[in-house]
Amino acid sequence: MTTGFEFLEISRDGHIATVTLNRPKEFNALSSGLMTEIEQVSRGFLEDEQSRVVIFRGAGKHFSAGADLKEKTPPRNLVMQRRVAGLGGRMIKAILEIPQVTIASVHGAALGGGACIPTACDFRVGADDAFCGYPEVNLGINLQWLSLPLCVRLIGPARAKRMIMLGDRESAKTLFHWGFFDELAPRGELEAATMKMAERYAAQPPIPTQMIKQSINAVSNALDQAIMHMDTDQFLLATGTEDRSEGMKAFFEKRNPEFKGN
Ligand code: COA
Repeated sequence: MTTGFEFLEISRDGHIATVTLNRPKEFNALSSGLMTEIEQVSRGFLEDEQSRVVIFRGAGKHFSAGADLKEKTPPRNLVMQRRVAGLGGRMIKAILEIPQVTIASVHGAALGGGACIPTACDFRVGADDAFCGYPEVNLGINLQWLSLPLCVRLIGPARAKRMIMLGDRESAKTLFHWGFFDELAPRGELEAATMKMAERYAAQPPIPTQMIKQSINAVSNALDQAIMHMDTDQFLLATGTEDRSEGMKAFFEKRNPEFKGN
């Protein structure tokens, strides 16, 4: 199945659709172009009668290195900054609202926004070389894109605080132990393990399966909007700080940042 997407590859095997993030040279860093396409393809599944399971995976060495830190954004007024900064949240919301069962197949790095995509899926299969983390804090910003409650739900508040406050990378083994990954597979068997899980859900009757998904999401997501409606504004506030500039400078200079609280 080919599409008009520039940064995604879409394929289908019976009732299973696979969406591959396809900017391998950039470690599938989430540029605004890639995020817009993920939002579009996710919305497209609302019209898809054939697919019962949707797999998200990344091409190349990593699942995704997260937000594209090299993307230059043109100067905009605050009205437009708020709107544009909301793109990541809209992408995650679109993934959450895919009616079909969603599975993230994760290898290599899944960092920042690259970790947010798997948490928005129903299930996560990790390769043994996978590592995930939320480095936002070390770039002087908050975790946004509606993803803080998604992480809390998977691994619990104390581990979520640890992951999101320290920004450390956690290994596949630890993430499996914490319940972030539902299954682990050797790197060479990731695709087969993901397909095996996908086939089980694809064999289920789609009507009750999709209703169950919707109901469980409704129960568990009930408070999300109440606490996350402001994450874009928190990001814009944090973006104006000296600590944010220091975090970004330190990243590109490959050194530890020194934060001052300004
Ligand atoms: N956006 C833009 N460029 C990125 C990037 C990102 N998210 N992640 C990595 N890169 C770039 C690096 O700046 C580097 O560019 P350079 O060759 O011009 O110096 C290049 O990709 C290779 O990165 P490097 O760190 O040397 O590769 P690695 O194989 O040792 O590690 C990662 C790969 C993904 C683990 C590591 O690059 C990383 O931790 N990236 C940061 C991810 C991050 O903080 N994302 C959250 C953003 S909120």
